Amino acid sequence: MISNAPAIKLRLDGVGKRFGRTQVLHDIALAVPAGAKTVLIGPAASGKTVLMKCIAGIHEPETGSITLDGQQLTGISVRERNERLHSTGVLFQQGGLFDSLTVWENICFRLINNEGMSRKDARELAIQTLAQVNLPAANADLLPSELSGGMQKRVGLARVFAGSPSLMLLDEPTAGLDPITTKAIYRVLDRMIDQTHATVFAITSDMDAARHEYDYMIMLHEGRVVWHGRTSEIDASGNPYVLQLVNGRAEGPIKMRLKARV
Ligand SMILES: Nc1ncnc2c1ncn2[C@@H]1O[C@H](COP(=O)(O)OP(=O)(O)O)[C@@H](O)[C@H]1O
Ligand SMILES: [Mg+2]
Repeated sequence: MISNAPAIKLRLDGVGKRFGRTQVLHDIALAVPAGAKTVLIGPAASGKTVLMKCIAGIHEPETGSITLDGQQLTGISVRERNERLHSTGVLFQQGGLFDSLTVWENICFRLINNEGMSRKDARELAIQTLAQVNLPAANADLLPSELSGGMQKRVGLARVFAGSPSLMLLDEPTAGLDPITTKAIYRVLDRMIDQTHATVFAITSDMDAARHEYDYMIMLHEGRVVWHGRTSEIDASGNPYVLQLVNGRAEGPIKMRLKARV
């Protein structure tokens, strides 16, 4: 029998994460198809960043399993996990650049320090990847503190792209960016998928991009998966959570906490 189900790059099963007495993630089960773009959406504080940090090995979930290419990422040593995440590139919501390194040194930090790339080659590669995120070569020698928030985000993306990862975990990759740069970044992602069969798993609050730029969608609400499917199936889903969030409606099952207090 021929199956047309997509290959799975990343799988979570029964993942739970709490901080102190607050259970942030409850029994998360999801699958991220290889060679496609999957978006994670959800209201503020629904657990999106915590979920991504569990995958990236920043947080250790108390329960459940996470597998990448069928290999466990949980219940193993930090060293083993780092090895298994070797080909995973991560963009953190807050950029995560090194303050004391220039833009180009930030972009190629891992390539220079772990892969033995020469500083000359690294600087050239950094300038090429800056162009992919619409930043001029002249920015290469600046420090992160000399950049706007949106420019720092783009440098963080350039750092991910420079590593040619097979999995990209991107927390709000286009937040604060203009629509032209946003489009350019999605086209870079498409090229990487075409050329290297890379997998994208991103968080966004941009509902227009979520619907139109991604193949698959997973929605979190209060730390639980409330919908997952193809983005082409949203309108016909009949799911009140995803329909409310994607369409930005005030009425629906999602009660914003601030509003509830008014
Ligand atoms: N390191 C932490 N310690 C305690 N609570 C945290 C920590 N990180 C996140 N949280 C809490 O977990 C919840 C989900 O946060 P987060 O995943 O950042 O939300 P978002 O969906 O907006 O990305 C929030 O209530 C937040 O306060
Ligand atoms: Mg977040």
